[in-house]
Amino acid sequence: MTRADRDGFTTTFGALLATLGSAVGLGNIWKFPSLTGANGGAGFLVVYLAATMLVGLPVMIAETMLGRSARADAVTTFDRLAPKSQGWWKIVGWMGFAAALLIMAFYSEVAGWVYAYVFKSMTGEIATTDPKIAAVAFGGLVSDPTSSLIWQWVVLGVTGVVIAFGVSRGIEAVARRLMPLLFVLLLVLCVRSLTLTGAKQGLAFLFDPDFAKITPAVVLTALGLAFFKLSLGMGTMLTYGSYFREEQNIPATAARVMLADLSVSLLAGIAIFPAVFAFGFEPAAGPSLVFMTIPAVFTSMPGGVVFMTVFFVLTAIASVGAILSLLEVPVAILSQRYGLGRKPAAAVTIAMIAALGVPAALSQGVAANWKLFGLNPFDLFDFLSSNVLLPLGGILICLFVGWVYGLAAPERRMAAEGTPLARWTIRTVFFLIRWVAPLAIAIVLLNGLGVF
Ligand code: TRP
Repeated sequence: MTRADRDGFTTTFGALLATLGSAVGLGNIWKFPSLTGANGGAGFLVVYLAATMLVGLPVMIAETMLGRSARADAVTTFDRLAPKSQGWWKIVGWMGFAAALLIMAFYSEVAGWVYAYVFKSMTGEIATTDPKIAAVAFGGLVSDPTSSLIWQWVVLGVTGVVIAFGVSRGIEAVARRLMPLLFVLLLVLCVRSLTLTGAKQGLAFLFDPDFAKITPAVVLTALGLAFFKLSLGMGTMLTYGSYFREEQNIPATAARVMLADLSVSLLAGIAIFPAVFAFGFEPAAGPSLVFMTIPAVFTSMPGGVVFMTVFFVLTAIASVGAILSLLEVPVAILSQRYGLGRKPAAAVTIAMIAALGVPAALSQGVAANWKLFGLNPFDLFDFLSSNVLLPLGGILICLFVGWVYGLAAPERRMAAEGTPLARWTIRTVFFLIRWVAPLAIAIVLLNGLGVF
């Protein structure tokens, strides 16, 4: 395939929405609240904010720029841009391939729970503010091997069909339509949650930091979350960047995506934590937190069953944009580098994920004791991807862009486009890419893994 006839995003606004669609997903609605709850609340949030702005944003710019320069999949990009003697850089692309499969193995399961909750909302089965009843409903779903596997396969089937249709038709079409609605519904949830008696305690938990709870492992988790939230470190942004048009302003797009993504996460937090304390849920409940508290907030307002159903439908749809961007990395490698058709490439990718997904799907039930490093498969895949592969990929991408590929050409180009303020901003961002981000990630990674 030549560079000219590659598929791509047709408008700059469409590209922004698709990128946002990749960033906003279960990471905001499910992972952000459960990790914030499990790691002590506001202190974690502060570290997360720092990680997002000082590391997440520069990595996002570096990664997207790389893709647009090479106009290729995550592996081929390094073939094209690295000096001939440094062919090993393409390992970054292969790490991304592996990370995509690992993330999808558990992400598809969580998405499956969301799909199941659409139906459970309609029947009223989960309409309760009682933590005990909520726990039974959630536990019944996730510990049952048949329903866990079937819902995961439904998710893989649906998203596999969308990805097979290609970039502009598939991804853009879905991304464009439903984000604003989800935003509005989250606002409604926030208002209800904030007006519950006892809401104050939840707000204090979320916004009044206690830095004593911050350990090196917590900092690594916050950094991993920042990568996960912004879809960084594994070639998603690189691959999307390769579909950007020449006139797309990458720093501005990245900044918008970061801010919008952050607002959705904060809204989810504000919707959930006041309710956690008002109804007596356990903030450190982990993966089950959202699935118990969100229904409780809806149950406490008029028309709750209807809103609850709509909420889970929208969350399911939000997860599609994120999943498509995860699938796009291996699909692009298989189809563009190895010449597989888009449909067979999608089928092969989905089949690999389905295989890896079985132990992840069974982790809350029959596979709960299949442990490696003390983690069940679900937690292990999550840890390996978010806390190891993504940060490692982020360091390598920054080093490659900052020191090997070089920033001279992009710097000249962006500087020519902008005002003095824009030029100053670009210099700062490039300083972050060269020095701050790789060093910060390296220190956090080694420290968090207990190396020093
Ligand atoms: N950012 C998405 C979310 O928050 C998940 C996701 C999509 C992702 N693509 C990714 C995470 C690439 C890591 C890497 O739900």
